Order: sequence, then C-alpha cells, then structure tokens
Amino acid sequence: MAKTKTVFFCQNCGTSYPKWQGQCQSCKSWNTIVEEVVEKPTSNEVWKATKSLDNTSTHKTPLLLSDIKIGTKQYRLDTKSSEFNRVLGGGLVPGSMILLGGEPGIGKSTLLLQICLNLPFKSLYVSGEESIEQIKMRAVRMPKSSSDLCYLYSGNKTHDIFKQITKIKPEILIIDSIQTLSTDSIDAAPGSVSQIRECTNELLYFAKKTHTPVLLIGHITKDGHLAGPKVLEHLVDTVLQFEGDRNFVYRILRSQKNRFGSTSELGIYQMQSNGLEEVHNPSELFLSKKDEAHSGTTVATIMEGMRAILIEIQALVSSAVYGTPQRSTTGYSTKRLNMLLAVLEKRAGFKLGAKDVFLNITGGMDTEDPATDLAVIAAILSSNEDEPIDDSFCFAAEVGLTGEIRPISKIEQRINEAQKLGFTKMFISKYSKFNEQNYHIELIKISKIEELINALFEV
Ligand code: TYD
Ligand code: MG
Repeated sequence: MAKTKTVFFCQNCGTSYPKWQGQCQSCKSWNTIVEEVVEKPTSNEVWKATKSLDNTSTHKTPLLLSDIKIGTKQYRLDTKSSEFNRVLGGGLVPGSMILLGGEPGIGKSTLLLQICLNLPFKSLYVSGEESIEQIKMRAVRMPKSSSDLCYLYSGNKTHDIFKQITKIKPEILIIDSIQTLSTDSIDAAPGSVSQIRECTNELLYFAKKTHTPVLLIGHITKDGHLAGPKVLEHLVDTVLQFEGDRNFVYRILRSQKNRFGSTSELGIYQMQSNGLEEVHNPSELFLSKKDEAHSGTTVATIMEGMRAILIEIQALVSSAVYGTPQRSTTGYSTKRLNMLLAVLEKRAGFKLGAKDVFLNITGGMDTEDPATDLAVIAAILSSNEDEPIDDSFCFAAEVGLTGEIRPISKIEQRINEAQKLGFTKMFISKYSKFNEQNYHIELIKISKIEELINALFEV
C-alpha cells in the first residue's frame, strides 16, 4: 500500500505547506491551514476520459482580436427562465462554469432542477446528496414535472460521472454539490480543499474542452462564505448567490462575479409548495393590499441591482414607558433612523426624544438605499400625528443633516415603476434632474422637511 502523505492546505487561497503554521504566507490569513491526506496520482484515467471527449478549438498561436470568429453556434443558450437568464446576463455561455451558493434549505437544488426540467436540450443532473428517487419526488411537485431531456444520476466520483457524460453527451451538466464530489486521482476526503480544487479543475477542463456549461452547487460556511478554497471562486466564470429569509417566501438570486455580464442584475423568486415561481413584478410582493388607511405607513422606492422595487415602510411612534426611549428597526439601519430622528428634532422642531420609535420594512426585505429616507420621515410624522398618508403616494429622496431633501440616483426608473403600479403622487427632491415630460404621475418637488409637512398635512 502506498505510504500516505499529508499536506497542509490554506482554505483561503489553496497554498500547500509541508507542516502546519498559524498564518498563510501567501494570503496572510490566520488559522486557515488544515491538514489533508494526499496521494500523488499514478495513472489519471479521469483526465484521459475527458480528453477523449470532443476536442475542439485550442489555438497554439496568438490571434488578432479582429480575426477571432465566435462562430455560427448560438453564443448564449436560453434557459427558458427569464429571471435566470437575466442574472446570467442573457443566458448561458457555452463552456462557462457557474457556481451557485446559498444557505442550506434555501432552494438551490430546487432552482437548478426546475431549470433542467424546462430546458429544450439534453441535461444531466448529478446529485451526490440525494438518490434519483428523491430527486424524482421533488420534481413531481413542480409545475412541469417531467422532461424527456433531463437525465438524473446519483454519484460522487468524477470518474463515474465522466463515464456517464461520454454515454449521454449532455448539453449542460449540473453538479449538486461540489463538496460531495471526489476524484480517484487524489486520496483526500470529499469536501476537503484539495478534493474540491481537483474536482473543479477536472470539471473546468471538461467545460472548456467540450463547450458544455457546468453549474455547480456550493455549500456555504457558517459565516456566509462559499465553503472550500477561495480559488474556487477564481476558477469559475460566474458566482451566483441564492438568498432570502426562510421565514418569508421570496428568494433573490444575485450575481457576485460574472465574466459574461453585469453583476447588478438580480432575479426574484417566490418559494411555493410546487417549486419556485418567478416574480416579474416584485413590488406587488412587498406592498400589502389594504382596505383602510393606517397612520405610519408609507411607500418607498428602492433599487435592487438594476430594478426599482416599491416597498412598504411602517413606523410606530409612542410615548416611552421606560426612562430611555427605545429605537428598534427591522430591515433598516438603527443608526440611520437615529440620524433622521435627530434631523426631525433639530430642523423641524418635533420633540421625539421622549418617544419610542419602531420602524419596520414589511415582507422581510432589508435595504440600505438612502432613497428610503423621505419615506421613513413621512412614516414617522404620520404615526406621530396619527394622520394616515394616502396609499397612492410614494417617496424617493435622501434627507441630509441640514434637513435638505437631496436627489438620488436612477430617479427615472423609480418614477416609471411607481407610475406602472398606479401611484398618483410621488415626492422627490426639487434638485432631481430628469426629463419630466415623460411622466403623467404627479411629481411633488420639495427641498426642505417643512415643505414635506405642509404638503402632507396641509398645516
Ligand atoms: P432545497 O432546494 O432542497 O434547498 P438547498 O438545495 O438549497 O438545500 O429546498 C429545500 C426547501 O424548499 C425545503 O425546506 C422545502 C422547500 N420547498 C418548497 O417549499 N416547495 C417545493 O416545491 C420544494 C421542492 C421545496
Ligand atoms: Mg440541495
């Protein structure tokens, strides 16, 4: 039996060391070095298997940019899922490798299985976590529960997977998850730094050689980073993050890195009993439909990536029961709330110092967009005065320390969204610059907090 050899790997950058040390010399991070058993590959059959696959276009000499032809082959593959295409920057690029990360139970497997079922071309879904019967049970819950083009395979050896690939010749490969894979060429445990790196390299080689897109599901660690070496993120072309609060139905698919598109696009989904449903009009998800007007509720326009979303803000101002008034927020920064309360006190003369103030963004959304400031102030004033604000009004402006109402970015997109959803009045900064002729919604331009108070409560 071959002598076992152990090597110490940095989990952050993947550098190897012959013995343990506290700090990685290469990336300077502390306590990231772990011991792993490794055996040098003898005969690497897996590589031979991948090399026997379709062998096209590798250029030995440099070519002029203008001489390079992308080819007649369609450059982006349509996944038939508009949200997924949008996040990828218009579809799957052949030969690209995509890593999808997210907390356990957030819906990663569900998302990719659902995409496979809708694909108009042959796909292979490899699961190292579930049996094919379990995957089938999941598929049965989905709106399109079967497909003649979706192959399922349960296994975790790259060698076996490549064998199946040569037989089936899928046009897209899904791996659920990269942490469960292992290759025979090294002897480390699945999920270890060297295994993850080696398996990813083999899959990357396959993707680039055969122009097949490969989607990897990746686990994340308890502090929210993708598990495995940081090099994994460098190796792949696209890193997607699937996130959301498990107590709420909506899920957001963000792109953290994308070699073939913008990272500011995001996809919004809703987790239902029959799988994930795409949300084309996110504002409807976050705005509650009410029959009566309540004080303390306003609507703000925020930007999530390139999309404008309207969200509801609720404030409750009440006399403090205890000596020190409470300031509590959900989905919003408490520091920012304190700042806005100080501005209201100093610039508009509202004595809120002895009152409890609670602020909540409904639907489990959270935001740091400064454009919510005006809506937050309006909600606080409305609750303080116990005067409801018309539910067809919305707000989009930042509030400065001097009490001035400041313009915000992408105002036109925000106005468009508000107009589309049937809002009648939108409060914006007097200094916002855009072409006003394009809109029929009534725009109320203000420059100071006093003007907001006059416009809302007509005192
Ligand atoms: P899953 O895709 O297994 O998550 P991940 O792969 O990210 O760990 O999703 C699991 C959760 O999704 C599970 O808690 C139940 C829920 N779910 C639904 O609500 N509806 C469905 O149709 C499916 C398939 C799952
Ligand atoms: Mg899963």
